[in-house]
Amino acid sequence: MVAFTILFVLIFQHIYSEVNLGALFTTSAIFGVIIGLALQDTLGNFFAGISLHADRPFQVGDVIAVGQQKHTGVVESINWRAIKIRTFQNHIALVSNSIAAKEAIEVCPRDNLNARLVFFSTIYTDSPAKTIHVVREAVRDADNVSEKITPIVRVRNLGESSIEWEIKYWLEDYAKYNDTDALVRQRTWYALRRNGLTFAFPTRTLHLERKVATRPTTAEDDIADRLSAVDVFAPLSTDELRQLAMATVGHIFAPGETLIRAGDEGSSMCVVHNGRVQVQLSESGKSRPVAVLSEGNFFGEMALFTGEPRTASVVALEETEVLEIGHAAMKHLFETNPSLVESISWTIAERRAGLAASAEQATSNSLAESAGLLTSIKRFFGLR
Ligand code: CMP
Repeated sequence: MVAFTILFVLIFQHIYSEVNLGALFTTSAIFGVIIGLALQDTLGNFFAGISLHADRPFQVGDVIAVGQQKHTGVVESINWRAIKIRTFQNHIALVSNSIAAKEAIEVCPRDNLNARLVFFSTIYTDSPAKTIHVVREAVRDADNVSEKITPIVRVRNLGESSIEWEIKYWLEDYAKYNDTDALVRQRTWYALRRNGLTFAFPTRTLHLERKVATRPTTAEDDIADRLSAVDVFAPLSTDELRQLAMATVGHIFAPGETLIRAGDEGSSMCVVHNGRVQVQLSESGKSRPVAVLSEGNFFGEMALFTGEPRTASVVALEETEVLEIGHAAMKHLFETNPSLVESISWTIAERRAGLAASAEQATSNSLAESAGLLTSIKRFFGLR
């Protein structure tokens, strides 16, 4: 280029020696600068418009947000100078192409399943599993909520005074997201109200501790009722059931949580108060279901009464409340009800049979095993 320019100047001067090449160049450069400055914006818009048309990052009808969400709305037209957006306040915003080319643009295409997030909070005593079910069902059939993807309801944070939730749902027509968000919030309110769940607001709970036992009688009666329905506890008197109820500790588990892990040490058993659990054995890396236990059934007695490690894992199939009974409470019961040891040793023998690889081997062994168990339970609990 340099050699070519020098050659051009030399030949030009040689042919047109009367023309002042320096002055000519200076004048045309000045004109170029003046025209360039005057048309800077127009040309900028023009070229940015060409690139927008070539690129097609969005189309008429899409919702876009240009530059830190300042201009959000539905695209009405794109021409060589600007993008026309109808905002959600029904205003027209004109964003020049050159500005749009410099800013980050968030595009929510019309033919795409765009998602929204809506937030709410519940109080800590409300069950998460119930909240998820109730809200999801209330939201999924709201107008403009897509049927193609089931809404997701999930815990976002465990806040200072509430469980904070997020609903993620997908829209048929994203341009109507304000109305749909409002409808989703409204549906959530009614669903929570119908199902006895409570919206949270900043609160402080003051706990007063008293020396006397504070367990409310109603809860205790409820537990005694549940225990009386457990077959092995059927022979117990009302007083004994009450005492046992006072010695239990309640626990709640989410669906899928493991209550007992095979191989662990264990010194307590549990009665299912509400819900269902599955007893599982792990065989070559896969879990084999052995039994499903529901309200009034018990588990964990094998390790408690024999002192051996847990024979199987127990997993909650749904939200499950259990009543845990410790070693000391059972020892007390055994001392006053010797027949209890016998019925429990039968259950253990039967369950061992269920765990055995072959059913025939199991049945033939269970009688002898029950007698052996009786002796070892008595020895383990220091009974005569
Ligand atoms: P434990 O061994 O303490 O922990 C796992 C528990 O699973 C076990 O006590 C029993 O309560 C329970 N379990 C084991 N096998 C069976 C079975 N075949 N049927 C029902 N429950 C069982």
